[in-house]
Amino acid sequence: MTERIEVSAPGKLMLFGEHAVVYGKPCIVTAVDHRMKVSIEATNGDSLELHAPDVNIVGYIEKIDDLGKGEAPKGTRFVSIAVRNFFNSFGIKSGLKVETRSDFSSEFGFGSSSAVTVGVIKALGKVFGKELGNKKLFDMSYHTVLDVQGVGSGFDVAAAIWGGTLYFITGGKKIETIKPKDMPLVVGYTGVKAETTTLVRQVAEFYKNNKKVVDRIFDSIEGIVEESRHALEIGDSQKVGELMNLNQELLGSLAVGSKELTNLIEAARENGAFGAKLSGAGGGDCMIAFAPDIYREKVEVGIEKAGGKVIRVKTNAEGVRIEG
Ligand code: PMV
Repeated sequence: MTERIEVSAPGKLMLFGEHAVVYGKPCIVTAVDHRMKVSIEATNGDSLELHAPDVNIVGYIEKIDDLGKGEAPKGTRFVSIAVRNFFNSFGIKSGLKVETRSDFSSEFGFGSSSAVTVGVIKALGKVFGKELGNKKLFDMSYHTVLDVQGVGSGFDVAAAIWGGTLYFITGGKKIETIKPKDMPLVVGYTGVKAETTTLVRQVAEFYKNNKKVVDRIFDSIEGIVEESRHALEIGDSQKVGELMNLNQELLGSLAVGSKELTNLIEAARENGAFGAKLSGAGGGDCMIAFAPDIYREKVEVGIEKAGGKVIRVKTNAEGVRIEG
């Protein structure tokens, strides 16, 4: 029981369908090669000891019996609730030493919370000899994310588990791997950290007050997701770009854009991108563009000149895996 297990899970980028996916619509998400690493070992004690230097948590200790009871620091919650849920589900109790390290900043909106949740539960399964299939891993991880933040479709959890590029419907009702032919993706970070739950609640309020109109917006986004799936699969990047622009307009009408996002999106388009949009909840974080190879550099320079930071990613990254 003293074996130390290391697991890694990929970050993600939403390509199409954000917000509408919270209301039962599909979205398309790709896993990226910036990974979250989690290592776990069982101890003889009765506490969780956590080191998560990326979110300024060093030497944090909490009794296993108290997990989820008090007001734990923000950076510890996904780990401690994942541990509690795993232990409750299998009737296990043990001391633990957990360490997390990320290839990417938690500011980017690459899904560090869901990647860490998936990583912890996957590693616990290995440490305690409980074989978790992907569906069971998804259900327990998604449950954990909802316990901590109350809202979310689970698309980021699915990306961390399955990897690749997924067509996903709320709560994992459908999780299908799609095979894009080409992914000439450029990613620009606005430098502004967005709070996903705030934006999801803001859209919920907007929906409550404008139900009929917003239902139509969600229906249109669904249409874009279906068409973009096809365009990605046949490698029609021009069409993917057009659909990104359309999706961006609809997100604008949900009022989740921001000045910084608009600046980077416009810079990408003006410098030759097929199309561009925000990625994720909006309000900040990252934008994405599809750009022909000959214009990639120009688009990247344009984004940087407009105040963004280009983040190089490989898409279609492998899902959660045991490292050793
Ligand atoms: O902010 P992100 O990258 O976690 O993306 C949020 C996407 C939403 O559709 C707005 C919420 C969700 O859980 O699907």
